[in-house]
Amino acid sequence: MTRVTQARQHHIQVVAHRGASEDAPEHTLAAYMKAIDDGADALECDVRLTADGHLVCVHDRRVNRTSNGRGAVSALELADLATLDFGTWKGREDSVESPDWGDPSLTSVLTLERLLELVADSGRRVELAIETKHPTRWAGQVEERLLQLLGRFGLAGPAAAEDSPVRIMSFSPRSLHRIAAAAPTIPTVYLMQFVSPRLRDGRLPAGARIAGPSIRIVRNNPGYLERLHQAGHRVHVWTVNEPEDVELCARLGVEAIITNRPRQVLTQLGRA
Ligand code: G3P
Ligand code: CA
Repeated sequence: MTRVTQARQHHIQVVAHRGASEDAPEHTLAAYMKAIDDGADALECDVRLTADGHLVCVHDRRVNRTSNGRGAVSALELADLATLDFGTWKGREDSVESPDWGDPSLTSVLTLERLLELVADSGRRVELAIETKHPTRWAGQVEERLLQLLGRFGLAGPAAAEDSPVRIMSFSPRSLHRIAAAAPTIPTVYLMQFVSPRLRDGRLPAGARIAGPSIRIVRNNPGYLERLHQAGHRVHVWTVNEPEDVELCARLGVEAIITNRPRQVLTQLGRA
């Protein structure tokens, strides 16, 4: 892996996708603590509502892949989720074991509240990029709970700083629109798996401030990135794990790289 040359470098924020999720089980305290230790600028997490209204950090609709349980997050209460082991699967999948992954204090279900506490206690500015998952099924409840919780940490509402350390991402324009209407100081990121024909000129849906294209879009259509920048949008690209993709993103001037490998990307950028 060669380092990105100094001449091409600008400040690129390195965002740990689901925590340092190549090295530790995704969306666990173990993964986020590792990401903070690695020096990540920001942490990415997906949030879902449990049956009893708690926001938890889980990517899939069901817990089957990343725990020893079964069923949809939305059908389980927090107390049910708290009995599950979200760590051991990682050792089986990657053939890499760590004693930490069997430690329930590090690999039990992670609430967004606990993640906010971790960030608040980190001793430095660590930003959070929170993705609302399938918010349309919940008719505004995910956003409402999210803003309530952020308000308790002074991250939304009247006490919130202009320069918000939290941003909210979604594939759903409706979800972003709700956030923008209720909390205009919180930046919103519109995630894209493909570019819809009506947005090819670099515009974003109403309520979205930052563009979040996949690395595949960037590889196949670098000109689109230029249009996003020309339209005045920052660009946060996911999920960028390969050195040649980091190089491409740096060359194209993206503002943030979302990666499962924060330590490796920081090293390539000459920051670790
Ligand atoms: O950071 C955006 C990215 O996480 C979107 O895809 O499936 O990993 O949530 P996914
Ligand atoms: Ca995500």
